[in-house]
Amino acid sequence: MTPGIQNGTGRQVPPVQAVPADRAAIRVNILSKRFGATEVLRGVHFSVARGETVALVGPSGIGKSTVLRIVAGLDPAFDGEVQRPEAVAMVFQEPTLLPWRSALQNLTLVHPDLSDSGARAMLARVGLKGREEAFPRSLSLGQQRRLALARAFAGAPEMLIMDEPFVSLDPELAEAMLGLTEELIAEHRPATIFVTHARDEADRLASRVLELRGTPATLTPHLI
Ligand SMILES: Nc1ncnc2c1ncn2[C@@H]1O[C@H](COP(=O)(O)OP(=O)(O)OP(=O)(O)O)[C@@H](O)[C@H]1O
Ligand SMILES: [Mg+2]
Repeated sequence: MTPGIQNGTGRQVPPVQAVPADRAAIRVNILSKRFGATEVLRGVHFSVARGETVALVGPSGIGKSTVLRIVAGLDPAFDGEVQRPEAVAMVFQEPTLLPWRSALQNLTLVHPDLSDSGARAMLARVGLKGREEAFPRSLSLGQQRRLALARAFAGAPEMLIMDEPFVSLDPELAEAMLGLTEELIAEHRPATIFVTHARDEADRLASRVLELRGTPATLTPHLI
């Protein structure tokens, strides 16, 4: 029987849903998030469909990274619930690479099913051909960022979370990274949430912009 609510007349009333269940790859209902006595988030509700890219914006310190960490499952200490797919990839502002492993191993250790040739192809894709054996510390910051992007996409993620991935890169490199990200998103069609302070990045990548406001920060529901 279809789930629903019996109303007073005995007829079935379908449950209210902002996003059809099959489309919502990510469904976020954060009632409250505190750090000690300080409530940082209250009432952050949104959904992201498979293949959709959403930008999360707001002033520094408002709670954007906190939302991303909760959505990614890195911070379970909050009131509410989050539904997310299994294959999750994250790209942080600082590339969080394994320092004592080569560029190639940074991909293959994180994705045990990835073949050596698959990993090499992905490195070539982000412009790191010839640097497969290099340790992260011998790569430039831009190369480390590209390695982090390659690692994220090598797992064919169903959900991609990026926290200011292009910040403090020179404009040329930021543009190259943005183009590459666009390509990879178009190919894999994950549900994507990314934080940015750059309006042009939001306009270019995202089909929707979500803005955190207030203290504690809230996000009004946005329908897809
Ligand atoms: N582990 C923590 N312990 C205590 N307070 C924290 C912790 N992490 C974040 N906060 C606080 O929560 C608030 C939101 O932080 P968050 O890092 O989510 O902000 P943000 O919007 O990502 O800022 P920015 O744009 O500067 O990166 C800030 O006031 C911050 O000081
Ligand atoms: Mg942040």
